[in-house]
Amino acid sequence: MCGIVGAIRAHANVVDFLTDGLKRLEYRGYDSSGIAVYSESEQKIKRVRRVGRVALMEEAVKQKGLTGHIGIGHTRWATHGGVTEPNAHPHISGGLISVVHNGIIENFEAERTRLEALGYEFESQTDTEVIAHSVRHEYENNGKDLYRAVQTACSRFHGAFAIAVICHDDPAHMVVARMGCPLLVAFGDEEVFIASDVSAVIAFTRKVTYLEDGDIALLSANGIDMLLDKNGDKTERAVKTSELSLASLELGGYSHFMQKEIYEQPKAVADTAEIFLDGGFVPENFGEHAPEIFSKIKSIKILACGTSYYSALTGKYWLESIARIRTDVEIASEYRYRDVIADPDELIITTSQSGETLDTMEALKYAQAQGHECSLSICNVLESALPRASTLAIYTRAGAEIGVASTKAFTTQLVILFGLAVTLGKLRGHVSDDELTGYADDLRQLPGSIQHALNLEPQLAVWAKEFATKPSALYLGRGIHYPIALEGALKLKELTYIHAEAYPAGELKHGPLALVDENMPVVVIAPNDKLLDKVKANMQEVGARGGELFVLSDLDSDFAETDGVHVIRTPRHIGVLSPIVHTIAVQLLSYHVALVRGTDVDKPRNLAKSVTVE
Ligand code: F6R
Repeated sequence: MCGIVGAIRAHANVVDFLTDGLKRLEYRGYDSSGIAVYSESEQKIKRVRRVGRVALMEEAVKQKGLTGHIGIGHTRWATHGGVTEPNAHPHISGGLISVVHNGIIENFEAERTRLEALGYEFESQTDTEVIAHSVRHEYENNGKDLYRAVQTACSRFHGAFAIAVICHDDPAHMVVARMGCPLLVAFGDEEVFIASDVSAVIAFTRKVTYLEDGDIALLSANGIDMLLDKNGDKTERAVKTSELSLASLELGGYSHFMQKEIYEQPKAVADTAEIFLDGGFVPENFGEHAPEIFSKIKSIKILACGTSYYSALTGKYWLESIARIRTDVEIASEYRYRDVIADPDELIITTSQSGETLDTMEALKYAQAQGHECSLSICNVLESALPRASTLAIYTRAGAEIGVASTKAFTTQLVILFGLAVTLGKLRGHVSDDELTGYADDLRQLPGSIQHALNLEPQLAVWAKEFATKPSALYLGRGIHYPIALEGALKLKELTYIHAEAYPAGELKHGPLALVDENMPVVVIAPNDKLLDKVKANMQEVGARGGELFVLSDLDSDFAETDGVHVIRTPRHIGVLSPIVHTIAVQLLSYHVALVRGTDVDKPRNLAKSVTVE
């Protein structure tokens, strides 16, 4: 979703940074972009905005010869108002104040009415323009102090936002504010940068400070000149060195980030498994207070969205079977509006790649407000909102995930959930020493099994040609493989725009069987586990109605290729971690269908990487 950048550089032009930074934020999803800089030669704030790719905007910036030592930039994912140039950021009020903004000003209508009554004219349909006029109003009527103007304006706004503001009268300073949406300040040599995401700045500097909710900072090329927290008290925030690698933000020989990220899974999974293989299955992996919290909890509730919700659904099976702890999983956007019954002995877990999904964040806050005392965030992005708001946190070691469709974040979340199940199982006396050794061996072998699954790509590419011509597809699984069927169907929808649905295979005869005919490819995830015979019976139901079956199985499940039954086998039996290995196959299948259909693999239409709006 929307991305923010900004910079003050004492001796350099900021435009290079602004366009480079915005390109690095493209992966988050957007539909227009723009930058505004203070031009010293013309002594005014100049702006370029374009609908479409940042490259188009960059071209226009070059043509106009924009330069300056201070500027702000934005990629916009439309919420209030359509995808048009007037709605793109930055917004400017009276040539005096320019603003970029992430998030939503919930009371913008009331604010707009107030400002219109004061004589301000609006050029866009956005909530952001309210900020620009509001800051200008405070600035012009209360002593021309930009910092105070932003502070007073922000106190009027409800919602979650991060903003950066520059002012025509003072081209040496910028004011930034954070309330609910991520924002960081980064430091170079006589230059300061701001961004909503560290990937925008690391080509320029690795020294970063993450602002906290309620912080408002006055910046100059020397750094942070003043920082007040939510209570209006002077404060300081630690400067950290980002370890995100620049290579992880580049394609490095792959055609798409999604392809790269699928292929990074053996390493991402091995790095994440190391937490348990090196550190042991001990509560301390989850945070300082995990030993006392884990010993008192009686049940678990996992809150998440999308792919992260499916990892949670998979984790439930391990948590209940290995740790014998009752586990519920709920879609965060539903949970937050339900009359929940809070239980202080229930551990709330959130799973999230970005750590900033608004629905998940609000669900966590809601759970906390209802009296849930303990929470654990399983997250991929360091220092993001969810781990910071949780009592405990553990990070997946997937590295930056750029493709909008989540892949390696999902499989590494599964590794953590498995590690959690074993840790709790051991703590609660349900895992013997032999079993513990077995689980560690399973984790050790997992990267190799994933590598074998990646080798299935040519066979999956053949299947993909057939899928690409069909209007819809059905995915079936049973038990712990049902969430993997859900994940497979989601990946197909997102990447290829083919309608796909997933069902527990036993549910077929209760309705969806009516859909099955020769035009409906049916993917079945059918490893050799205790439900295999049941799955085979369900497959008969499909075959008898002329449906074409595409079976993903493992070596010893004796499926025969016949007319209407295609089989791809992973080269080994994988045991308890089988869902992770079968995920690779459904990812590759969707990727190849997308290639055949020529869709935008890394940026599927209408989707954003970090969903920071409701
Ligand atoms: C699908 C996908 C989304 C995300 C969802 C939650 O491929 O990526 O469904 O899983 O938007 O995002 P996070 O995990 O960042 O909370």
